[in-house]
Amino acid sequence: MITTEILSNSHKKLKIDFSCGKELLDTYLRTQASQDVRRKLSACFVSLHVETGLIQGYYTLSNNSIPLDIVPESFKNQLPNSYHSIPTTLLGRLAVDKRFKGTGVGKMLLIDALRRSFEISKSIGSFAVVVDPMDEDAENFYTKYGFILLPDSHKMFLAMKTIERLFI
Ligand SMILES: CC(C)(COP(=O)(O)OP(=O)(O)OC[C@H]1O[C@@H](n2cnc3c(N)ncnc32)[C@H](O)[C@@H]1OP(=O)(O)O)[C@@H](O)C(=O)NCCC(=O)NCCS
Repeated sequence: MITTEILSNSHKKLKIDFSCGKELLDTYLRTQASQDVRRKLSACFVSLHVETGLIQGYYTLSNNSIPLDIVPESFKNQLPNSYHSIPTTLLGRLAVDKRFKGTGVGKMLLIDALRRSFEISKSIGSFAVVVDPMDEDAENFYTKYGFILLPDSHKMFLAMKTIERLFI
């Protein structure tokens, strides 16, 4: 198992060293994540490698919503028509440093993010966790864990009811 902690000033030097191979996600952690956290735009969680103390991976979460129109038909019947937008939790970014790829860190970060989202959904309603994969590689990763592509959108979705079954 891994543990995650909230990104803070104590990670300032470690952020510089982070490299997942996707420039956008590296730059985000180095230059933007702390600002977004301060502005309450998202929460960022990092996992430190026990032996080296390096950041082995991170993810971000924020409140979000999706239009009812793009909710897959099989889920729509659970939702009242009067809801034009459905509250969801956005797993905006998830990345693993190249040095730790292929060792299960991505899977454990995803489970940590889903567990956190599920816990939060008990106090602030959220129908699903939504991701916005940046490329086919990321899409394949999320597909492996049951996320389904939302129509007319690059976004993917995993219902909170499905996530609930993982944790209760
Ligand atoms: C995608 C990413 C998070 C995977 O992390 P990782 O630590 O290498 O993955 P893990 O070692 O935890 O792999 C867990 C499982 O997922 C599989 N997997 C890993 N990457 C995958 C991919 N891109 N597509 C499909 N399956 C993938 C592994 O084979 C493994 O399967 P197994 O349990 O059946 O053996 C990582 O490669 C990464 O940071 N990529 C760049 C950033 C990115 O694309 N982030 C996602 C969207 S923002």
